[in-house]
Amino acid sequence: MRMTLTALAFLSASATLAVAAPGPAQQAQLDTYATLAKAVDPAFAGFSAEHGKTLFLAKSTTGKPDTPSCTTCHTADPTKPGQTRAGKAIGPMAISMKADRYSIPAETEKWFGRNCDSVLGRACTPLEKGDFITFMVGQ
Ligand code: HEC
Repeated sequence: MRMTLTALAFLSASATLAVAAPGPAQQAQLDTYATLAKAVDPAFAGFSAEHGKTLFLAKSTTGKPDTPSCTTCHTADPTKPGQTRAGKAIGPMAISMKADRYSIPAETEKWFGRNCDSVLGRACTPLEKGDFITFMVGQ
């Protein structure tokens, strides 16, 4: 009996601490980016949350001068709301704060397109997009 209760307490504690997982729509986007990443590099072996974090926080000199980083608009804390250059509110990028993020491919692609161009002066690769979403899923 004592063992069972201890085991139950442990199980419920691990459930609370579990890392957030992508929902079906987010997983579908990750699968698409994985297929594209593999087409570019057959050695592709999965996305990296760490690389996604690096992309999110990096300072770039190759894009527009007033948007040197993703954090310029999204802030350095993905759980916090951001702001456009014109002061319009942007919802948090973290899935834990906004569960419907990265669920509509056309939306996600539109914003990756605009924002990667603004910050990096080029399109993000499928690898970068998958890394970015993988990082945000855990936030
Ligand atoms: C000039 C301001 C600005 C910068 C800089 C910026 N973003 Fe955004 N981003 C926005 C706005 C505005 C939206 C759309 C509003 C929303 O989704 O709440 C958005 C939405 C997104 C989305 C769509 C999320 C979804 O739900 O599908 C992604 C992905 C994204 N941004 C990635 C990035 C990345 C990666 C960078 C850095 C390379 C970046 N953004 C830099 C303003 C910015």
